[in-house]
Order: sequence, then C-alpha cells, then structure tokens
Amino acid sequence: MSASFDFSGKCVLVTGGGVGIGRSIVEAFAGAGARVMTIEHRADRADALRAEMPDVLVLDGDVTRSADVSALVGEAERAFGKLDLLVNNVGDFLVMGPLETMSEDDCDRVLTTNLTQVMKVTRALIPLLRKAAPGSGVISVSSIEAFRGIPNCVVYGAAKAGITGFTQSLALELAPEGIRVNAIAPETTDTPQLALDYVLPAKNRAHLDKWIPLGRFGQPQDCAGAALYLASELSGWVTGTTIHVDGGALAASGWYRTPQGQWTNTPLISGNAIEFPEG
Ligand SMILES: NC(=O)c1ccc[n+]([C@@H]2O[C@H](COP(=O)([O-])OP(=O)(O)OC[C@H]3O[C@@H](n4cnc5c(N)ncnc54)[C@H](O)[C@@H]3O)[C@@H](O)[C@H]2O)c1
Repeated sequence: MSASFDFSGKCVLVTGGGVGIGRSIVEAFAGAGARVMTIEHRADRADALRAEMPDVLVLDGDVTRSADVSALVGEAERAFGKLDLLVNNVGDFLVMGPLETMSEDDCDRVLTTNLTQVMKVTRALIPLLRKAAPGSGVISVSSIEAFRGIPNCVVYGAAKAGITGFTQSLALELAPEGIRVNAIAPETTDTPQLALDYVLPAKNRAHLDKWIPLGRFGQPQDCAGAALYLASELSGWVTGTTIHVDGGALAASGWYRTPQGQWTNTPLISGNAIEFPEG
C-alpha cells in the first residue's frame, strides 16, 4: 500500500496507536518513511507497540487528560519540532443503552472521548502544524454513525456528528495557511473495540453481502489507505470533508425494526444481526 506514497522527512502523530485502526495508520505511515509518534493509554498496548515497532515513539498517556495532552505537545516539540500530520484516532462508544438510562458521568465521558479531546488535542498542536505549513494537516477518525442515526449510542452519534462540524469549520480557519482538515468515517471494522466475533456472531452473518454492498466488514487497513490519501499531495485540493470508508453501507443505509421490536440495520431476512441489549 505504501509503495506509491513517500512520507520521508514527515512527522506524524496518531492518537491511540496501540491496536486497531490507529495501529494500522501508524504502520502505514512508518512504512511510507514517516517519523511516527503515538500516545496510548493502555500500558500493555504501548509496551507491545514499542517491542514490535522500536522506531515509533510511544508515549504513555490519556488524551482526555489535559496534563497528558500538554506532555504530548512538549514531546512532539522536542522530538519533531514540527508536525506534518495529526491523526485524531481515539474514540470509543464506551456505553451502550437508551439515552435516558445513561448517567450524567457516562454522557460526559462519551462526549469527552469522542469529541472534546479531539478539539483540545488539535488546538494544542496547531502551532506545530503551522511550522510544517503549507502542506500539513489534520485527519480525525469519525464514524458512519455521524451520518445516520444509531439507537442505543445517542451521545456517541452526536459526538461523531460533532467531528463533521469541527472538521468543516477548522478547515476554513486553517485553509489560508495551507493546513488541510479532513475526516474518515468507517463502518464496522474488525478491531479490538468492535471484534466481529463478539459484535456479530458467526450465526448472524449469512446475509452480510446484502447488508454491506461490497460484501465484507472493514479491516483497519481500509482506513489507513484513506489516511495516506488524505495526507498526500494527491488530495491537495481536499479539505473540510469526510471520506466514508464503509463498503457502500451509507449509500444503502437504513436501520430497521425486527418483528421482535429490536433495532437492526440488516435486511429483515433472519432477524437481528447485532445483538443489542433489550430496549
Ligand atoms: N472499529 C470500528 O468498527 C469503528 C467504526 C466506526 C468508527 N470507529 C472509530 O475509529 C477509531 C478507532 O477505533 P478502533 O475500533 O480502532 O478502536 P480500538 O479500541 O480497537 O483502538 C483504539 C486505541 O486507542 C487507545 N485509546 C483509547 N482511548 C484512549 C485515550 N483516551 N487515550 C489514549 N489512547 C486511547 C486504545 O487503547 C487502543 O489502542 C475510533 O475513533 C472509533 O470511534 C471505529
């Protein structure tokens, strides 16, 4: 994948690079010659990444904590002195259930993890992005749920929709300096957060080809490919927008109720595919 992209001399920071989509983006940019840094809140994942990719700078830290964000900026300044690309990858639905059952703390946590930290991390790194401008950029990992409703994940859906507005407005602010701001919106992608065997048991997969037009769920590399494109000069006239990495799912779209009253976005052939809690 990286053969046609050369990011030698470029400095890239990916939040949450330990596993999943973030890890794949780390691998893609390191493979394309970039110097890569990540911040990871799980020590076991940070250690594994250090062991497997010793050239990647791995910081222990939580992007929802201001002190850790300050330390991240300091480390990026010290190690890189500039930033060509920030990838806001961290995000997590965290809690699943009807809105009225969520505690205030749950609501705050989901909003902070999926939107507030993205704005704060980006804000803190604009001075370093400016040092690499024109040509530097921000990519945030959103979700297909920013573009359709998702029952039982209302705050997550709202936060991801917020990424769309954040991306559009910041793109306008930074365009005069040649800093581009875009987003990637994946449909279900096989990562530790959404391990398919858990989310969608094999017995429910018979009609996958009728659900996802391209006939499969995503792999983390699908998003990494979009990130390489959005960071490269091939997308030099692209800003303020979102690439849907979804196998055509948004084009097909639509959530449906099963006869049992549960939510599903699978065609009503064999009942519910995602086994949501009752409600
Ligand atoms: N996997 C999917 O199907 C899917 C679908 C739509 C959107 N997304 C979005 O893609 C992004 C990546 O998702 P994923 O499935 O790869 O997740 P994941 O949970 O598998 O991986 C996320 C990584 O970030 C780290 N992390 C989480 N919170 C952190 C924090 N506060 N500070 C530092 N590190 C933190 C985790 O330890 C992990 O290494 C998220 O923004 C998610 O919302 C994923």
